Amino acid sequence: MPNETLSPIGAPERVSHARASQPGKEWWRTAVIYQIYPRSFADANGDGIGDLAGITARLDSLAALGVDAVWLSPFFRSPQNDAGYDVSDYCDVDPLFGTLDDFDRMRERAHELGLRVIVDLVPNHCSSEHVWFQEALAAGPGSAERDRFMFREGRGENGELPPNNWQSIFGGPAWTRVTEADGTPGQWYLHLFDSTQPDFNWKNEWVWERFREILRFWLDRGADGFRVDVAHGLMKADGLPDVPEPEEGESLAEAMMKPDEVPYWAQPEVHEVYRDWHRVLAEYDGDRVLCAEAWVEPLSRAALWVRDDEMHQAFNFSYLSTPWNAPKLRTVIDESIAAFGDVGAPSTWVLSNHDVVRHASRLGLTVHAAAPASGIGPASEDKPDEVLGLRRARAATALMLSLPGSAYLYQGEELGLPEVIELDDHVREDPTFHRTNGEVYGRDGCRVPLPWEADAPAFGFNATGASWLPQPAEWSAIARDAQEGDPASTLELYRRALALRAELRLGEGSVAWIDLGDDVVAFRTGEVVVITNLGDGAVELPAGEVLLASGPLDGRAVPTDTTVWLRPTS
Ligand code: GLC
Ligand code: CA
Repeated sequence: MPNETLSPIGAPERVSHARASQPGKEWWRTAVIYQIYPRSFADANGDGIGDLAGITARLDSLAALGVDAVWLSPFFRSPQNDAGYDVSDYCDVDPLFGTLDDFDRMRERAHELGLRVIVDLVPNHCSSEHVWFQEALAAGPGSAERDRFMFREGRGENGELPPNNWQSIFGGPAWTRVTEADGTPGQWYLHLFDSTQPDFNWKNEWVWERFREILRFWLDRGADGFRVDVAHGLMKADGLPDVPEPEEGESLAEAMMKPDEVPYWAQPEVHEVYRDWHRVLAEYDGDRVLCAEAWVEPLSRAALWVRDDEMHQAFNFSYLSTPWNAPKLRTVIDESIAAFGDVGAPSTWVLSNHDVVRHASRLGLTVHAAAPASGIGPASEDKPDEVLGLRRARAATALMLSLPGSAYLYQGEELGLPEVIELDDHVREDPTFHRTNGEVYGRDGCRVPLPWEADAPAFGFNATGASWLPQPAEWSAIARDAQEGDPASTLELYRRALALRAELRLGEGSVAWIDLGDDVVAFRTGEVVVITNLGDGAVELPAGEVLLASGPLDGRAVPTDTTVWLRPTS
């Protein structure tokens, strides 16, 4: 074919910044990491809640999918008030999920299959049932035990007012008053999340020592790294000053969430913690990693978590929050590669997780105004167009998996699972729902147990049919076995994309933009041209071999909401 067949694309306009990754080194720079949400993945003992033995039994399907690692949300001892993000023993498995032996078997099987295992570390707070918090309650005001947490005297004449105006992220006040041993109302303790999740005092060396031990416990057990929960929140500004008054039209809750202006997010001292942990991990072989869950903006700020001597990766929530809009996507891709590249880290990419509306539904919202973590429920005004949402989700994933760096997948997105909207109030478990009196639906809709087999009880989630959240009947059509081998299925699209990504080393690529119009995201990475059409009209494909298409093509035309990977004719 003559060269001019490439002319619709034209010469690369501009190469986006430095390469983010160093080929061949440090597996995590280009890895695809699959998030397992243990309570909803697979349930071996049939009690309706997923468990470690269930995971072990199903790991081969993740190896077949083509991911490099799994990250497991918490399976530690916990009263489960926040689905395990309220830990009462960091060094044991909750009986709900199994035993430490089950963990070892799961880890062994994963490693046999070539999958690394990342565990979830929750250092901002523990469960109020943790013995450390119980000791703090018993020891009383002024004790060393209380100093491990954030206890303060109340304001007001008799200490009846909370120490400051902070609100819980889940709704309601961020302070709870305790009753002292003599029966009188006493001090208050801080909980940025649920009242059963007391915040640690990270200005106390004792806390640092305990967490080093916890890291070593899991590293010794063969964990390949940690996803670090609320990694922007550990340090609070001295004096715990009030949050600035909300601006006109803003609620206090909204004012509380501003990642850069509040005295409990992104305090500079937090970085010392990660430098310390970096040194702990460096004592171990095998390229172990730390990944920050830090909801911090802008990206240049988030990049501070992944400087050379800190963590290895940080979730790219700016990417997750970007609406389905071509100029905005181009900008966030550029900014991500630049910001993380500036500190020598790979960019990461993510579209879904256990805290946000699944992207197959989110991208089908007409307004796209809902905060991703607020959830969608029966009474929500904006309900997704599911057909549109899935088409866009497939295009969005195909775009994401072509990008240089590392990508995170959330269990079920490879099946194109939508958010479950029709959940009765009484089955909802997210503390957000209860703490806001149902005003915010919260995150249960993205946590419904996975459908594995179309014709089995609980769609193969277990053998008994029990399921802690009900699965929609129509999920039989999108169960994993119903999609296997069907080239048009979302599962096969993910498999093909992951296989090609590995084969073509797209994780090591770079982004050289191509101008195909404002509504088209198009670039060259290595030998591949990637085109995502977000415009209304079709985009003519240049000559070349189509390697991957997120949806049906119209001859040589890329329809709206479709991504193509093309090997251009040279
Ligand atoms: C993180 C977790 C979320 C949890 C919260 C409190 O944001 O991802 O699920 O509720 O921290 O631990
Ligand atoms: Ca179970």
